[in-house]
Amino acid sequence: MKAIRVHQYGGVEALKYEEIAAPEPGAGEARVRIEAIGLNYVDVYQRTGLYQLKLPFTLGMEGAGVVDAVGRDVSEVKAGDRVAYSMISGAYAEYAVVPSSRLVPVPKNIDSRAAAATMLQGKTAHYLTHSTYPLKTGDTALVHAAAGGVGLLLVQIAKRRGATIFGTVSTDEKARIAREAGADEVILYTEKDFVAEVKRLTDGRGLNVVYDSVGQSTFEKSLDCLRPRGYLVLFGQSSGPVPPFNLGTLAAKGSLFVTRPTLAHYAITREELLQRANDLFNWVAAGQLKLRIDKTFPLAEAAEAHRQLEGRKTTGKVLLIP
Ligand SMILES: NC(=O)c1ccc[n+]([C@@H]2O[C@H](COP(=O)([O-])OP(=O)(O)OC[C@H]3O[C@@H](n4cnc5c(N)ncnc54)[C@H](OP(=O)(O)O)[C@@H]3O)[C@@H](O)[C@H]2O)c1
Repeated sequence: MKAIRVHQYGGVEALKYEEIAAPEPGAGEARVRIEAIGLNYVDVYQRTGLYQLKLPFTLGMEGAGVVDAVGRDVSEVKAGDRVAYSMISGAYAEYAVVPSSRLVPVPKNIDSRAAAATMLQGKTAHYLTHSTYPLKTGDTALVHAAAGGVGLLLVQIAKRRGATIFGTVSTDEKARIAREAGADEVILYTEKDFVAEVKRLTDGRGLNVVYDSVGQSTFEKSLDCLRPRGYLVLFGQSSGPVPPFNLGTLAAKGSLFVTRPTLAHYAITREELLQRANDLFNWVAAGQLKLRIDKTFPLAEAAEAHRQLEGRKTTGKVLLIP
């Protein structure tokens, strides 16, 4: 089968399109013939070595397709089932082996591209708004990179919870897209001081929560957007990792909370995994959650997809097709 492999960490040139043997499912595993692969920022961290995997490896943490073989002791799925998954390595390929307990059945009215566009970023938006800081009516929240993959889903799901949403983006076009998704106020953080804008728009009160996936370039200022006892949810670092941090700052800035969550710990049991995925599929099927599949590339062109994601040239979801 064809796959994108990484033999050495590095730039987009580290992505090698190769012929390798298709993996065989072991006990408790199923093999998925992948129809759509989700591109996620974590793929960049793994390619560059910010997050280290054992070399060489097949990149990719999200896929959707059809089960074509199962190993021993598999009860959750059978050959022919349409499934999707995330947070398991090896998705940049024609086939991937996945623990069957991590596979989510995909409803008939959701195609594989939509399923791959829902899983990782959707479940992230779900846990951030429902579990990490459960938003409630009247809350005010800031979503950085609001026109991104997680960003557009986070804005929509946060609005469902009754919160007022502020978004930051880098361009006018992204501002338009974030507004269309439901953001109440959008700030061009590349042009304006977003702390001053948040203070102005909240009459100096500040926010209940900031969802910050940008990291290095926004973290300190995100703290300054919060009201006393507000929450900074740092869930990524697209601009680079946040340097070591003096906890005393949290007291000085208003007895603030900081958490650094990851999806792995918010979909621990199969029940939790299915509950989040099914909520998302139901909203998508009902037209209550819009997916924006911005760009689709052949798997062989994964390097160009990475170049565009890192270059801030994408909005919503990017897919690779094997
Ligand atoms: N913790 C978790 O469970 C979890 C799960 C999924 C994703 N994440 C994180 O969520 C973030 C978004 O992931 P995604 O896949 O949806 O990507 P994305 O938001 O579609 O792309 C990243 C966006 O970050 C913004 N950005 C700001 N500074 C940047 C810089 N220096 N370089 C590149 N981008 C920059 C850009 O938007 P503007 O041009 O508008 O600034 C860019 O479009 C990532 O940090 C990812 O690690 C975390």
